[in-house]
Amino acid sequence: MNRRIWPTHFASAALQAFSDEATGWVRRVHCPLEDLQESNIEKVDLVLGFDVFEQLEDVRTALQAIWTLLNPGGRAVQRIDYSAHGVWRTAEHPLQFLTVPKWLWEAMGSNRDDENRIGHYQVLAMAREIGFETTVLHESRYDDAVVNGILPQLRRRWPERGREDFCVKNALVCFKKE
Ligand SMILES: C[S@@+](CC[C@H](N)C(=O)[O-])C[C@H]1O[C@@H](n2cnc3c(N)ncnc32)[C@H](O)[C@@H]1O
Repeated sequence: MNRRIWPTHFASAALQAFSDEATGWVRRVHCPLEDLQESNIEKVDLVLGFDVFEQLEDVRTALQAIWTLLNPGGRAVQRIDYSAHGVWRTAEHPLQFLTVPKWLWEAMGSNRDDENRIGHYQVLAMAREIGFETTVLHESRYDDAVVNGILPQLRRRWPERGREDFCVKNALVCFKKE
């Protein structure tokens, strides 16, 4: 059977997981991902997240917490939206939000340093450093012309990031704990 997961299937999986019949095996944890401690959680096999990762203040700590939360062989499936959010959606260029200086970013409503500005390959690299096997299940990308049109500004603002890191608009990623 084709087990490839697409965003629509993700929604179905979530609906199934949160249906009344599933309440016996679904555990809801009400705290920031970064605050999960080994001592206060029961391990799980699957962590589903939709448009959460780009909101996190500390992606590395959240990934470490997910590692702690998962049983060996467990997976975290995360849909991550790297595109502009809030007021930045209305900008002339879809990637303009990545060019604004930090002070303006904070003045325009975000108290978070990196919200919506972390890159796909940065997330994947962090996950691998922690020990996850990463599989990209689906990726939606900007057209080359969109990225190329603003690349000099992006390179100035984020010298450590490669071109590819700006190309991914959203992605569905599986992080597997070996
Ligand atoms: C864009 S909403 C997506 C909500 C929902 N998954 C959906 O698709 O409608 C982002 C969600 O991330 C959650 N979130 C933000 N920071 C978080 C953190 N540090 N730990 C866990 N969840 C967080 C918020 O509570 C919010 O529900």
